[in-house]
Amino acid sequence: MCGIVGFIGQREIKRQLIEGLRELEYRGYDSAGIAVMQDAHIQSFKAVGKLSNLDEKTKNFETSGLGVGIGHTRWATHGKPTELNAHPHMGEYSYVVHNGIIENYREIKTALEKVGVNFLSQTDTEVIVHLFEKEVERYKNLFDAFKATIDQLDGAYAVLLVSQKAPDTIFFARKGSPMIIGKNRNQEVFFASSDAPLIGEAEEVAYMEDGTIGYATPDTIYAEPDSLVFVPLAGDKLTAQKGGYRFFMEKEIYEQYDVMNDTMIGRVLDDDVAFEELNEAFLDGISRIKFCACGTSYHAALASSYLFERQAKIPVEVEIASEFRYKEPLLTDDTLFVVISQSGETADTLEALKMAKNAGLRTLAICNVDNSSIVRLADATILTRAGIEKGVASTKAFATQVMVLWMLALYFAKKRGTLNATAIQKEVEAMSRVPSVLKKALDVHEKCKRLSKRYLHGHGFFFIGRDIFYPLALEGALKLKEISYLHAEGYPAGEMKHGPIALADAELFTIALMPKTLLYDKTKSNVEELSARDSTILAISPEFFDLADDFILTHPHEHMMLEFFEMMVVEQLLAMEVAIRLGNDVDMPRNLAKSVTVE
Ligand code: AGP
Repeated sequence: MCGIVGFIGQREIKRQLIEGLRELEYRGYDSAGIAVMQDAHIQSFKAVGKLSNLDEKTKNFETSGLGVGIGHTRWATHGKPTELNAHPHMGEYSYVVHNGIIENYREIKTALEKVGVNFLSQTDTEVIVHLFEKEVERYKNLFDAFKATIDQLDGAYAVLLVSQKAPDTIFFARKGSPMIIGKNRNQEVFFASSDAPLIGEAEEVAYMEDGTIGYATPDTIYAEPDSLVFVPLAGDKLTAQKGGYRFFMEKEIYEQYDVMNDTMIGRVLDDDVAFEELNEAFLDGISRIKFCACGTSYHAALASSYLFERQAKIPVEVEIASEFRYKEPLLTDDTLFVVISQSGETADTLEALKMAKNAGLRTLAICNVDNSSIVRLADATILTRAGIEKGVASTKAFATQVMVLWMLALYFAKKRGTLNATAIQKEVEAMSRVPSVLKKALDVHEKCKRLSKRYLHGHGFFFIGRDIFYPLALEGALKLKEISYLHAEGYPAGEMKHGPIALADAELFTIALMPKTLLYDKTKSNVEELSARDSTILAISPEFFDLADDFILTHPHEHMMLEFFEMMVVEQLLAMEVAIRLGNDVDMPRNLAKSVTVE
């Protein structure tokens, strides 16, 4: 995952770019670089490590007057974090920065090498700038050459390119990786991967749609298709950071499409999954897994336990960290101890990790915050790349945790030879569809808004589901209770008859997760039992269910995880709309903290 910035204007360009990159530091990076063009002359600087190293390298460089610049923080995917691999990458007279993965870069590179192009880096990105310069030889017009270049790229990208042949211009393209363009009355133009660097700088911004390609100069912003919709960007940081949404939670639900792309970059490949973070020997001798986490992160672990056992045929135990700490657990050194934490600072999870380390277990952290206490302590870490999550009620962090765990289950399955190539291919294909499912799932937002008025009272909510949809039911109930303060429980659908069904009456609201891909008829029978006892039923399913009082229709999918992710979004939206109607502060619910650093 990387961060991109770009600027056209009269300011000191180096400072503008580096400060912009500083606002994107939260995305994680291991090297950084900038390219600055003035009077058709480009200078570029790169440094490995923190931005302070780039500061140091550029301390004697300053600009004045009109100029153009692009900058980048790199999170290594292809090739090690070295200066040569850091962006911007240069051709003979052009420079490029890129966030994403060019899947067909090998083919392009081989073709370019055959016609004499020399490559300096191991990255996929470098092909863009050389390809562009080859296309310039064919097309007279630089934008045509840029379009022809982008046309040949498969994969995900947010690209900014500058060229000495177009001195005041930045060329841009977006597909699958986020990019925002901003402008102000001083004819300044800004680009960034998220709105953080644009706050207080740009007056209006446009969130680029996938497939946008264009160029900007001090006088013109041109895009194809003509889809840039500029909206005012609030000057105050808090309002601006919400990007037009009512709450951070809402923004974070809507962001899930973009962050999921980031989570998958370099990991979900054509017919495989890969984790650069894990060395070959990391899993040697491991024959069981113990997950340990709290709250939402615990739900992600529980959900993935079904995948690990089903796909990788490895025994899995899932523990709540606060329980694990005091149960005098029996730990064996063939166990991989995996902690999951959004913040990386949760006291119970951190202590559990320490216990596992002291017992000599191999440890892995799945975390959203680089350099957090948990990341520093674990033997290895896989970052979830969800970006900063501000809403106390976790949404995008949960989505990315589940995704990483699903990928990890497949990684294990492959290592252990428990899935054949066709089955792996099927999983990978389903994974690649998750971002678009997260986007499509938002279609029911209006419906959730309308339905929410019927769910503001009652003596309790039961979210029910089976198999992997049981942890999702737990998560749906947690979301609702955290922000609405209504009593909600998650329950295995088949377990209701063993006690909780005694509560059933018209004021007991059952939120039934009824996926078609998994145990539909079984779940349906359980819901019928509740309906017969007069519980009010809200069914979430791709198949119409005539006993439901309310119904949210989801899209049909062939893979259970696609149904999982879609229903997750429905739960998030529903909880948020109920809480908003109740007048609650959705982002900062009472009695809760984002990071629980006490026992
Ligand atoms: C989620 O909505 C909650 N705010 C909470 O349950 C959270 O998941 C839990 O405190 C664990 O936090 P962590 O992921 O940062 O370790």
